[in-house]
Amino acid sequence: MAKIKIIGPAILQGTISINGAKNAALPCMAASLLTDSPVILHNIPEVKDVETLSTLLRCNGADISFKEKETCQLHFKEIRSPEAPYELVKTMRASILILGPLLARNGYAKVSLPGGCAIGARPVEQHLKGLEKLGAEIILEHGYIIARAKHLMGSEFTFDKVTVTGTENIMMTACLARGETILNNCAREPEIENLAHLLIKMGAIIEGIGTDCLFIKGNTSLHGATHTIIPDRIETGTYAIAGIVSKGNITITNCNPEHLHILLQKLKQAGANISITQDTLLVSYQDELLPVDIETNPYPNFPTDLQAQFMALMTQANGTSLIKENIFENRFMHIGELRRMGADIQVNGSIAMVKGKTPLSDAHVMATDLRASACLVIAALVAKGETIIDRVYHLERGYTNLVSKLAALGASIEKIT
Ligand code: UD1
Repeated sequence: MAKIKIIGPAILQGTISINGAKNAALPCMAASLLTDSPVILHNIPEVKDVETLSTLLRCNGADISFKEKETCQLHFKEIRSPEAPYELVKTMRASILILGPLLARNGYAKVSLPGGCAIGARPVEQHLKGLEKLGAEIILEHGYIIARAKHLMGSEFTFDKVTVTGTENIMMTACLARGETILNNCAREPEIENLAHLLIKMGAIIEGIGTDCLFIKGNTSLHGATHTIIPDRIETGTYAIAGIVSKGNITITNCNPEHLHILLQKLKQAGANISITQDTLLVSYQDELLPVDIETNPYPNFPTDLQAQFMALMTQANGTSLIKENIFENRFMHIGELRRMGADIQVNGSIAMVKGKTPLSDAHVMATDLRASACLVIAALVAKGETIIDRVYHLERGYTNLVSKLAALGASIEKIT
């Protein structure tokens, strides 16, 4: 199995370009199920999750071609199979995103229940309740969600819990439901806005974009469209943190700093120098790093997908910081590995107390999920010596060419088998 070897410490310097957001690309790819005309998406990241969803959509009948690098055309002339098998769903929970569009287009969908994962139970009952509110009949059988609807009807639905893919699923479905839908307590992540803009290009009527209340006027059909995926804010944040922890000086291009408002505020509080132009971020740091507390919450608050990376940074701050994880119940798996590298972190329920500044040392560590892997890469950039990170496939699910990008910034990093 592939591993990553990093020899630290490193000082990152230079320019790095950000790829399209995985979490925006996946729902936009799923939206192509809503029309029998081609949907063309630019700025698709080269990550494993995109490959996995392509495999699934091809099983459903999509003709998918990657025309040039990062441009993907998806064409669902007809639905050949309305199923998402367990074998694919278990490798990528975001497969649940096809449930609503498949049902709306085909009147029937059978999608494996995702089950729990390393960071928490992650139920999908909000997706199901929302679909039922639009008139779907849902049964759970042998680990599968079976959804049927002769005619989906617009309705008003309030999410009990703020959910990103839940909001995306119901918003896509409502685009092909008869009449008007009002969705309350929606997630407001930029990836949802990006999806809404694609749906509008496809002929949908959606108001309230960027707020927690969406109004959707259903249509009998949608048409093809061409759309660009937004830059990955989590990739941007990960490299910004890596640059700072290494006491480097990096320029991050093709990003959208507006989507990282809270992170940048916290990095400034920690003592980093940050300067922003429209799509470029300059990050550097020389002096003492200060401890900063964070608490994860839905957008526009601090993203849970950057919590682990920020914790790695705080191990190098001069003092104690508190990190509270409010989204997922088990998203502290990286702490055990950080401790093995020398970090001093105590956990009390959903709060981690990080006592810096501790020298980190090289170790053989295990990645447990996508963002935990990025946290270990950041820690390894600081650690003196040769760190080996196992289970690299987690990283490859969501980061385009991480090894070559960090190497170009001067890190001593390589993929080994
Ligand atoms: C998305 C992102 C993921 C990110 C997460 C939170 C994608 C493909 N993935 O995941 O990277 O970490 O948002 O920002 O965009 N919940 C329920 N019932 C539901 C749905 C969710 O209880 O029906 C809970 C979850 O267990 C979790 C919280 O709500 O505690 C937020 O989850 P959700 O926003 O749905 O995460 P995802 O959409 O799966």
